[in-house]
Amino acid sequence: MLRNTLDKKTLQGLQRKISEGLLPQWVVTDPDIYQLEVEKVFSCTWQFLAHESELKEAGSYVTRWIVNDPVLLVRTNSGELKAFLNSCTHRGVHLCTADFGKKKTFTCPYHGWSFNLEGELIGIVAGDKVYGEEMDKSEWGLRPIPRLESYRGMIFANLDRNAMPLEEYLGGMKWYFDILLGRSDGGMEVRGIPQRWVATANWKAVQENFAADPYHVQTTHRSTVEMGISPSDPLYASYGHAIVLEHGHGINVATSKTGRSIYPFQATPELMWPMFERNLSPEQYDLLSRTTVFVGGVFPNLSFVSPVHGTEGHLHNYLNFRVWRPLGPDKVEVWCWFMIDKAAPEDYKEAAYRGYIGSFGSSGTLEMDDTENWSRIVQASKGIMSRDKELNYNNVANYLMGSGKFEPDENFPGPGTAYPTTYVDFISRGLHEYWFELISKDLLDAGEEAK
Ligand code: FES
Ligand SMILES: [Fe+2]
Repeated sequence: MLRNTLDKKTLQGLQRKISEGLLPQWVVTDPDIYQLEVEKVFSCTWQFLAHESELKEAGSYVTRWIVNDPVLLVRTNSGELKAFLNSCTHRGVHLCTADFGKKKTFTCPYHGWSFNLEGELIGIVAGDKVYGEEMDKSEWGLRPIPRLESYRGMIFANLDRNAMPLEEYLGGMKWYFDILLGRSDGGMEVRGIPQRWVATANWKAVQENFAADPYHVQTTHRSTVEMGISPSDPLYASYGHAIVLEHGHGINVATSKTGRSIYPFQATPELMWPMFERNLSPEQYDLLSRTTVFVGGVFPNLSFVSPVHGTEGHLHNYLNFRVWRPLGPDKVEVWCWFMIDKAAPEDYKEAAYRGYIGSFGSSGTLEMDDTENWSRIVQASKGIMSRDKELNYNNVANYLMGSGKFEPDENFPGPGTAYPTTYVDFISRGLHEYWFELISKDLLDAGEEAK
């Protein structure tokens, strides 16, 4: 008999497996786990909404989602950023349905109430004729998203007004964000609009793919080896460091076998290198000089990759950020941003953008390789054997790579626990532990954790 409820015994069993470096397969398709995630993970963690360059002028706005909460993010006349629930306060209609634009007011399509950039209710159709004198418009403004904070131009929101500050949440990731987002004068800018598409996948599996899994590169993206773009050395994606950070975050810093990159400063134009030296600490500058790819994730569902793509003489680097918006246990809406150094030459930016579209865009070659595997995980995790919460069939995924084999590299210059290869599962394990801590909060009594 399958046990269908998420009782304490099930959670304790899950906790025990996670501590052993194993992840029961049922957690990637179980509807009860998904509900817990919506209520206990996405309701209180920092969610990426947009980059500041997407909202340049007063009146600029974008519409986004925090799982099922629609968000309207605007730049007000005073230049401040504000985020509201994108839902009319009259009867709850989804207020603004455009992805982005520029406006002075937002008018509801249902009965015509209108709101200004501050979210204040400024117009009611036939207002004084149908509402009494006592109707206080100031009570009916758009509902603000409780917290909105930025780091290096990255705007995050949190539905929990008591959440720790964004900078504390990001912790050691800030040091790496400084390299990725703050290396050049003027920082990064978003080019184009975020592409989005729906994939059959569990959000945890895709977050792990970026945050913690260079091991898949040699096999999943085998075609790049066959085309001669990537080396055939089975360890080629392992050279570098995997860095475990707090709160389920992690980053992989990929070099080459020598510990240096064959493409100094990620093949960026040389004229930019003095900027990097000016804007970064000596340790950050040195790390950037010898890194080919940065790939990682901010828990729960923001991933990024900063690769080198192209062919000799036409190499380029960019920064791809993506949010995996869960639409259910086995579906994500992928939001995918292209960013590049504002200070880079225009022709370089354009070539990098084309490279991105062909590789990590919605129809990109690398993207399609990955999507296929993500959908296969959930397809194979819905049957009797996978849904078995008592684990009679022992259907658990393996996160044991590197255990007992590698110790942290004390000489690594950045924050976090850095392992001397990216072929380890420690970032995933950190992610699973933090995830479990959040979903099980208040469900396991103190002192009753599984031994
Ligand atoms: S629901 Fe918006 S004006 Fe009525
Ligand atoms: Fe991949």
